[in-house]
Amino acid sequence: MTNRLHYADNLDALRAHVADESVDLVYLDPPFNSNANYNILFKSPAGLAADSQIEAFEDSWHWNNAAEDAFEQVMRSGHPRAFDLLRAMRSFLGENDMMAYLSMMAIRLIELHRVLKPTGSLYLHCDPTASHYLKLLLDGVFDKANFRNEIIWCYRKWSVAQGQFVRNHDVILFYSRKEGSQIFHTLYGEPSPGTMKRWGGKRQRAVFENGVRKAASTEDAARSPLADWWDISILNPNSKERLGYPTQKPLALLERIIAASSNPGDLVLDPFCGCGTAIHAAEKLGRRWIGIDITHLAISLIERRMKDAFPGVQFTVEGTPKDLASALDLAERDKYQFQWWAVAMIDGVPLDGKKKGADGGIDGVIYFKPDGKRSEKALISVKGGHHVGVQMIRDLHSAMEREKAPIGVFVTAALPTGPMLREAAAVGRFTDEWGRGWPRLQIITLAELFRGVRPAIPFADPLVALRRARREETSRQDAFF
Ligand SMILES: C[S@@+](CC[C@H](N)C(=O)[O-])C[C@H]1O[C@@H](n2cnc3c(N)ncnc32)[C@H](O)[C@@H]1O
Repeated sequence: MTNRLHYADNLDALRAHVADESVDLVYLDPPFNSNANYNILFKSPAGLAADSQIEAFEDSWHWNNAAEDAFEQVMRSGHPRAFDLLRAMRSFLGENDMMAYLSMMAIRLIELHRVLKPTGSLYLHCDPTASHYLKLLLDGVFDKANFRNEIIWCYRKWSVAQGQFVRNHDVILFYSRKEGSQIFHTLYGEPSPGTMKRWGGKRQRAVFENGVRKAASTEDAARSPLADWWDISILNPNSKERLGYPTQKPLALLERIIAASSNPGDLVLDPFCGCGTAIHAAEKLGRRWIGIDITHLAISLIERRMKDAFPGVQFTVEGTPKDLASALDLAERDKYQFQWWAVAMIDGVPLDGKKKGADGGIDGVIYFKPDGKRSEKALISVKGGHHVGVQMIRDLHSAMEREKAPIGVFVTAALPTGPMLREAAAVGRFTDEWGRGWPRLQIITLAELFRGVRPAIPFADPLVALRRARREETSRQDAFF
């Protein structure tokens, strides 16, 4: 089985593409029901334009038909204990955002339980607003005997809290699929400064018998078994790891989970994979992997992250349009995801089309340096509809004038009309430092995109604005514990 990324709702992808008892380790970091919307920050080249933000995903759930449907699916799922708990929560909480979130999580936890091998484990990353409800749900789906740890990931983050302590931790709930059968490697950490002092500054191995520590031996191994609270820094704004995706988790956290609960060659699944931290850590530690995310922005970001960090890495991407018919289908189903996909196809940076009037019909930008120094931009306009007309070309031309963009790219599902082609040609040519001419307003059809046609732009800098992942030195195999 090859490594795979799925652009899909994880419930659909799990049901259609992940077999029973086929996965060794699941890590999931679902949106927390914090009622926040998360933006990806795309940095512009210095001096060219303000940085742009684009809404990556919404972190809010509402009680609606979809939530009611998820609730009913849990009822029919053959997990009566999970349903009993969910029903009790509904009578306690009522029909609100939290209940919608829990219903949506319950049906997905049931699928994740199905795909785990008997030797497998699941780590659910959440925060204290929902961790107590989620633990009950996990007890219902996995059985309380399979609860292994509540891991507290603590970090330092400057924030203010009125009338309470600052909340500076996340909760990671660790369950095994079958008690006593799970793959688990004890990890070791540094002894505390107090212990080191007692040991006279010498590193020693602590020896345990029936869970009780005996007198330390004199080995200089510096190892004490890792406890269930982990002090790992969050990614600060200047961190080299940071890619600009909101809620990105540190690699060190995921490496620890994967090293503890899987073996090299095992299959790791992240059904809410965001910018792919779990996938990156899995590849680094020589595991196979599956990542699923519902937004195309995340999937295109991971594709690049993996290629940057692991040149030559092998994986497939499922669910993104592979031909004209599937591209048209995406355009019909979701206008914004279609625009993001089309912009990524031509190595552009997406703009947030959802914000009314913010971009004047511009869906993305390609930055380029015609003289190798000065940054210019090409504006992208994407149209997925069946009807296009000459006014759309005029609109793109006016946006180019307004934004002082030498080039405009019009991507269209429908064939352009004769007047559109004439209007585009009339915009003229852009001449670079070397006297080469480039059409200023270029029209590309979806069919041409699939034939490999790309905009003609001098020295385009693909996705210049996204932070790039650093290349990993080697594929390490549990080297660090
Ligand atoms: C908190 S982020 C995950 C961040 C990730 N752990 C990382 O380090 O980058 C949650 C992700 O879940 C995705 N998501 C939300 N609902 C989903 C669904 N039903 N199916 C698949 N992905 C979903 C969002 O698009 C978002 O990227």
